[in-house]
Amino acid sequence: MAVPDGLSLEAAVSLIIQGLTALHAVRRSPVAGKRVLVPAAAGGVGSLLLQLAKAGGAAEVIAAASTPEKRALALSMGADAAIEYAQPDWLSHARPVIGDGVDLIFDFVGGELGASLLDLLSPGGELVFGAMGRFQITPEMTDKMMSQNQSLKGFALLPLLTPENVRADLTELFDLSLQGRIKVVEGRRYPFEAAAEAHRAMEARQTTGKVILIP
Ligand SMILES: NC(=O)c1ccc[n+]([C@@H]2O[C@H](COP(=O)([O-])OP(=O)(O)OC[C@H]3O[C@@H](n4cnc5c(N)ncnc54)[C@H](OP(=O)(O)O)[C@@H]3O)[C@@H](O)[C@H]2O)c1
Repeated sequence: MAVPDGLSLEAAVSLIIQGLTALHAVRRSPVAGKRVLVPAAAGGVGSLLLQLAKAGGAAEVIAAASTPEKRALALSMGADAAIEYAQPDWLSHARPVIGDGVDLIFDFVGGELGASLLDLLSPGGELVFGAMGRFQITPEMTDKMMSQNQSLKGFALLPLLTPENVRADLTELFDLSLQGRIKVVEGRRYPFEAAAEAHRAMEARQTTGKVILIP
């Protein structure tokens, strides 16, 4: 796949996995007219997901991010509101913003977050889970979902990819970026030898957008 003139290699590398993930996620769970919640909205997948959800006609996109800087970044990319979700009492602050609940949640964070997110899902709503190996579900969660006609939808990018659709979809993402219709958040760059430092920054939730290793 040739990177077109005018697109940085950093933007291209972000669009290859994080962009395709966001694109396929909104295709599989249409957002038009819906209230959508995007956790980790200042991250690589999250920042692209929130922009594609807006572009796809979501009625409202609510970003969740851990710091004021990350929430400001999400708002600057078009989120309609931004909530904090890292403190133990975050749900009590989020509920007034969320109101009656959101129709669609994209959970690429996983862990214990899923159970809390369900509290913010409206009856009939859908929780998409794509946090590889970290989604935790309990019988209490599925009982609650059943009683409210809610759906869980798994998301895995790799089985969706073919050489043909990768070419077509990357062309679409590259064009959207070149036209300024989506913004790629290029995060910190690390020399390849500092890969461990990059991992530590990710684990400490210090990164935004795409973390880039320069070989
Ligand atoms: N299913 C698939 O096919 C597929 C494809 C691509 C990626 N993914 C998954 O999507 C997720 C996002 O990938 P990404 O590359 O875009 O990463 P990322 O979102 O840029 O980075 C992770 C972000 O997650 C948030 N986070 C919440 N709890 C965390 C914790 N305990 N430790 C570290 N970070 C935490 C942090 O944002 P805050 O500080 O705002 O909380 C952090 O910045 C990853 O889990 C990845 O495995 C899945």
